[in-house]
Amino acid sequence: MLTHQQFGTSVDDAPAAADAEQARGPLRIAVIGTGYLGAVHAACMAYQGHSVVAVDADAGKAAALAAGRPPFFEPGLEELLAEVAPTGRLTFTTDYALTAGSDVFFLCVGTPQQQGGYAADTTYVYAAARSVAPYLTSDSLVVGKSTVPIGTAAAVRDTMAALAPAEVTVRLVWNPEFLREGVAIQDTLHPDRFVYGVQGPTAEADIGLLDRVYATSLADGTPRVVTDYVTAEMVKTAANSFLATKISFINAMAEICESAGGDVVKLAEAIGHDERIGRKFLGAGVGFGGGCLPKDIRAFRARAEELGLGQSLAFLHEVDGINQRRRDRVVDLVAQLSGGGHAGVRVAILGAAFKPHSDDVRDSPALSIAAALQDRGAHVRVFDPKAMPNAKHVAPQLQYAADMWDACADADVVAVLTEWPEFRTADPVALANVVRRPVIIDGRNALPGSAWTAAGWTYHALGRAAAASALPRKDSHS
Ligand code: UDX
Repeated sequence: MLTHQQFGTSVDDAPAAADAEQARGPLRIAVIGTGYLGAVHAACMAYQGHSVVAVDADAGKAAALAAGRPPFFEPGLEELLAEVAPTGRLTFTTDYALTAGSDVFFLCVGTPQQQGGYAADTTYVYAAARSVAPYLTSDSLVVGKSTVPIGTAAAVRDTMAALAPAEVTVRLVWNPEFLREGVAIQDTLHPDRFVYGVQGPTAEADIGLLDRVYATSLADGTPRVVTDYVTAEMVKTAANSFLATKISFINAMAEICESAGGDVVKLAEAIGHDERIGRKFLGAGVGFGGGCLPKDIRAFRARAEELGLGQSLAFLHEVDGINQRRRDRVVDLVAQLSGGGHAGVRVAILGAAFKPHSDDVRDSPALSIAAALQDRGAHVRVFDPKAMPNAKHVAPQLQYAADMWDACADADVVAVLTEWPEFRTADPVALANVVRRPVIIDGRNALPGSAWTAAGWTYHALGRAAAASALPRKDSHS
């Protein structure tokens, strides 16, 4: 039997109960919500041997997943669904009644930014909690994975307690997820850590049951940190705030480099060698987007203000501001590189997803820059290898191209705003033949600048003032 030492757990973990529970094998699991988080979580739990019923209010989504066709792009998910399907351990449905008898109910619904405000919209979390409450027993455990404001876990438990059968003691653990889109399966099967927020008289048994869910990953040595609800809620938003701050820090350095004549890529490389700092998430460019970082830092700040603690997180306002300024910078740069104005300038926008290997366009820097350029009179043509359907849905006013070549045809400026491999490895010589003027903005510091310069392009990288034509040919970032 595995010991706690082998789990790499923190000292305040439950001892024998955890080991005893873990020994008892696969569980019946319900997953509520089948977006990026829930669908991947459900498939991974089934892959690890549990029997999983995944529920979504959207019948189309449930049907697509049941047919093995995820309604969004996540590398490896289709293959994982195909691998799990023959085992019969994974069901997608809209029917909550099929969750009856589950040992564990995972809440995996979204918490988007509120309409007209910065706070998180927790409507779906409470709706999911109300929906599972009638199916709870004193043996079952509810596990919240959604990113929620401080205080939500306790309130969710109270909500369920009011609706669960009278004799039931509602058991709840808050267990935030940290998966990155694009590598969500890897992050679910091999997470950096588990966080269990536990509270109340059943805490020890709750830890034991959740250990049984994660037995495979725990046996691999994944650390687990056991704490209270509030800390668990905060871990997620603190982690995302730190990552956002790191990106905005390097983008602030980029602003200085642009004016003072420095090179932010070299700067990141140099400070990143310091192990206390590290090179990861020091990628300067058009900044962060997506369904998590932007809304999580805003929601964290909004909640702190509600708690009278606004000053503690005031810096996140600046983090958000720096991020926004990078988008504005590209819009200005297009005019600067085109003789001063936007009107009539033909701009090829390469990328629409908020990052490569995803089709997610929520708060995407690329799309927001494309829209701003078009508003100013530029002729914009957008291409993305995976995100075209989503982009067309959220920004139908933009022009879309069939491929990279089509987007670049007769362009005055090409802007690489999402660093897909096919853009990183594009042939600058061949592309120079289709554009009107060979001018490129490397919005992610992702291109081999010297190769583009050598092919006759005016190459402009964010945060690298001298990176354009003046760049020495042996530019080592390339
Ligand atoms: C993030 C967190 O990483 C993950 O742990 C959490 O659970 C959900 O939110 P995700 O939104 O998938 O994951 O994307 P992430 O890889 O963190 O990138 C966020 C944004 O930052 C992207 O737009 C990316 O392009 C940008 N980014 C990232 C930079 O601009 N520079 C960098 O150095 C790194």
